[in-house]
Amino acid sequence: MVRLQTSFDYHNLLVTGGCGFIGTNFIRYLMEQQDFGGRIINLDKLTYAGNPHNLADLSVQFPKRYVFVRGDVAEVKVLARIFEEYEIDAVCHFAAESHVDRSIKKPDEFIRTNIVGTFQLLERSLKQKNFRRFHHISTDEVFGSLGQEGYFTEETPYHPRNPYSASKASSDHLVRAYHHTYGLPITISNCSNNYGPFQFPEKLIPLMILNGLEDKPLPVYGDGKYIRDWLYVTDHCHAIWLIMKQGLDGETYNIGGTSEKENIYIVHKICDLLDQVVGSTTIPSRRALIRFVEDRPGHDRRYAIDFSKIENTLNWSPQESIDSGLLKTVQWYIQNQDWVNQVRTGEYRTWIDQHYGQLE
Ligand code: NAD
Ligand code: DAU
Repeated sequence: MVRLQTSFDYHNLLVTGGCGFIGTNFIRYLMEQQDFGGRIINLDKLTYAGNPHNLADLSVQFPKRYVFVRGDVAEVKVLARIFEEYEIDAVCHFAAESHVDRSIKKPDEFIRTNIVGTFQLLERSLKQKNFRRFHHISTDEVFGSLGQEGYFTEETPYHPRNPYSASKASSDHLVRAYHHTYGLPITISNCSNNYGPFQFPEKLIPLMILNGLEDKPLPVYGDGKYIRDWLYVTDHCHAIWLIMKQGLDGETYNIGGTSEKENIYIVHKICDLLDQVVGSTTIPSRRALIRFVEDRPGHDRRYAIDFSKIENTLNWSPQESIDSGLLKTVQWYIQNQDWVNQVRTGEYRTWIDQHYGQLE
């Protein structure tokens, strides 16, 4: 098989799940890049995790280069219309149900969106003439859990252990199968835990920041010694764009943050930052708000990424440290109370229904 680097002058890039956390950051990042002059079509179902206001200013600033469509990646008719009408030549596929706790309580939507949705998107991409690249956004969770030593590489066997990671693993396999069987041009990235602006406050870091700001309890699962490798979201966006531009057809790239930390370390850091930045009138230190609570079932102990492949071949490495990234993140949540109130109260959901009506 010929494995040329893709020329990356994509004209009509379909970004799925662009109103979620990483998708929002990616679209904003890409619109600022000098080497991208194409159009972005953002297809998002607007589940609880998707907020169209995140990108509303782009529709005004770039009326010809940014298009938003509310729709479901698992719906064949919606995909057919979009691929045809907008002459899609590349896909960057973020859309997913992304929260592990939700997948444990009710996996149904994880199967439909993450597996069936990816399948339908692959099927439609295969039919498209002059299609250039399907980039699939995946996770380090597909590799399972590590002991105290070692790192996930691109060769680590898959061993997903919760419904979310099993659904993502399944989607990765489908993407590879479409490359090997039908020759669809693809790349995959498996990334560690992201944090930064626009993250829905069900995930550890924004939840701790927002609860901490209101002196509410900070729930830490189990003994708090579970380890994640944290990556500031803009570093992830940069890596994705590099792969889309220069990554080899059919290849997978691991992306990590060199910030392996126990959860309790992260929570302590957030408490201390909030104490410094905003202080508190009711308690001397927010660490007093920490509560060790019942553990997540099947909780993976440690994730850690070996990202030497993308470092050596595409010259990527993370630019933010956990200290600089957490400070930026805390400041963003403090400065964006309107966004916080919107997503917490679900205020914009009524607007979505009035504005978009029923899903296609
Ligand atoms: P998110 O939950 O913040 O956003 C998901 C977005 O997808 C939302 O806008 C939602 O409305 C949309 N969506 C859900 N179902 C859809 C459907 N059927 N059709 C169209 N749109 C739909 O998720 P995120 O944290 O931004 O994650 C984005 C991607 O990155 C996911 O594929 C996730 O598995 C992967 N990932 C996330 C992380 C992380 O730390 N957040 C790390 C590695 C990989
Ligand atoms: O590793 C990449 C994955 O990171 C992504 O694929 C997922 O989409 C993303 O949600 C994230 O999964 P995690 O389960 O690691 O993220 P979460 O923020 O939910 O939890 C991070 C760690 O913190 C985890 O060990 C569970 C723990 N935790 C989480 C919450 C919400 C707590 O201790 N207390 C909490 O309240």
